[in-house]
Amino acid sequence: MKKMLIPLLACGAALVLQSALAETGEELYKTKGCTVCHAIDSKLVGPSFKEVTAKYAGQAGIADTLAAKIKAGGSGNWGQIPMPPNPVSEAEAKTLAEWVLTHK
Ligand code: HEC
Repeated sequence: MKKMLIPLLACGAALVLQSALAETGEELYKTKGCTVCHAIDSKLVGPSFKEVTAKYAGQAGIADTLAAKIKAGGSGNWGQIPMPPNPVSEAEAKTLAEWVLTHK
């Protein structure tokens, strides 16, 4: 019984550690290539995150909508240039969307 318990405990500890190490929106923004096309308060290829927040502030479910667009890409909301799909998981996309929307 003891032999089974130790690996189980180790697994639990690893899980806790992993969630503690989950990246913040700002870290993901810097490591997932968003900075190539987006800045917080000036337009680059894509809209600034302040513009995005101003446009959608207060809309119900907007974090989920933007998360889906961050993951799959999007077009037609800000001009002629589309955003290509980005290499993020669903959870990362949600973290990013919530972080983008903090820029008032
Ligand atoms: C190759 C350039 C490029 C990269 C890389 C990129 N974006 Fe975009 N992004 C754009 C463009 C262009 C738009 C405007 C698309 C449109 O008009 O709907 C956009 C739009 C957005 C929007 C607003 C979507 C909407 O429907 O209004 C958000 C939020 C966003 N990007 C977040 C991100 C995040 C987070 C990342 C990194 C994971 C990222 N983008 C990476 C170019 C890029």
